[in-house]
Amino acid sequence: MSVLKRRVPIAGAVVVVTGGGSGIGRLMAKGAAARGAKAVLVWDLSQDAARAVAEEIGQQARAVCVDVTSNESVAAAAEQALEEFGRVDILINNAGIVTGKDFLSVTEADVERTFAVNTTSHYRTVKAFLPGMLERDRGAIVTIASAAGLVGVARQADYSPSKFGAVGFAQSLRAELRHRGSNVHTLLYCPYYISTGMFEGVKTKFRLVLPIITPDTAARHVLDALEAGCQMKVDPPFVRAAQVAQALPVPVLDKLLDFFGINQTMDDFVGRSSGVDAEPRGADSEPRGADSEPRGADAELAERAVQSREGK
Ligand SMILES: NC(=O)c1ccc[n+]([C@@H]2O[C@H](COP(=O)([O-])OP(=O)(O)OC[C@H]3O[C@@H](n4cnc5c(N)ncnc54)[C@H](O)[C@@H]3O)[C@@H](O)[C@H]2O)c1
Repeated sequence: MSVLKRRVPIAGAVVVVTGGGSGIGRLMAKGAAARGAKAVLVWDLSQDAARAVAEEIGQQARAVCVDVTSNESVAAAAEQALEEFGRVDILINNAGIVTGKDFLSVTEADVERTFAVNTTSHYRTVKAFLPGMLERDRGAIVTIASAAGLVGVARQADYSPSKFGAVGFAQSLRAELRHRGSNVHTLLYCPYYISTGMFEGVKTKFRLVLPIITPDTAARHVLDALEAGCQMKVDPPFVRAAQVAQALPVPVLDKLLDFFGINQTMDDFVGRSSGVDAEPRGADSEPRGADSEPRGADAELAERAVQSREGK
């Protein structure tokens, strides 16, 4: 195993993008297609959104309605991907949600759902495709985490820990792959805020060092980092300071975060006032597979989750 950076070619690759129906997922799916991917599988909870992106891309794309929190849904979608293409070369774990609630308003269901989408889904999707990657000794797993996975932020009591979990997941996976001498690549992406609408209303104090990133820039940076063989990218580069600052005494770290206005960023957060972020989902809901029936108040969500693939 080389210590040098191994580039990950997107041209010719079969790429899965979770949460590919919107935001940077949509742009990464489109970007991967533009860079010559053999196939781009747009996985999203919203069938309509996934279909719209697949239509934008054209023949290389498949729109797949997948709930990444469901074992059955992911297993069915993964099976279809492997049946049609024989392999998946690049998995981009991008699906994510946020409530933006203050600590006392965050419910147990909020916490469970946030972790289910942002963190534990990664185990499920990686387990679906890692065996094939290990067999071929190539492939890449991309974790879209967040700068909030490097430092805790006010009004992110569910989101930020879920992203710390995603960061830990990506680092542990990288460590284990290295330990076993595998050439399967991992990339961890930790961006500050991106203007996709997910964090609508957030504000930043110092735009020069901590700008709100445009979705196009974020998507391009992930694909560039992958092709360049990077293993971790923070965006903008100043986010690296958050990692370094963790080594400081807590009162100093807190003063620095105050200075940069980090805990005020969420004061005017509205997020997506409608859409999947706002949809309720019972903490006790069972994972649903391709053949499950919609149930109760969760019917619309379940209905979307049961359709495991929409061909073009
Ligand atoms: N927008 C930001 O400011 C920002 C900052 C840091 C990190 N991120 C991360 O980047 C990623 C993409 O964010 P975005 O801003 O493009 O958000 P977005 O809301 O535009 O896209 C998220 C997508 O995930 C999908 N999704 C949600 N739950 C799902 C589920 N259970 N199964 C399948 N798909 C599901 C949604 O339908 C949506 O299409 C997320 O992981 C987010 O946490 C975003």
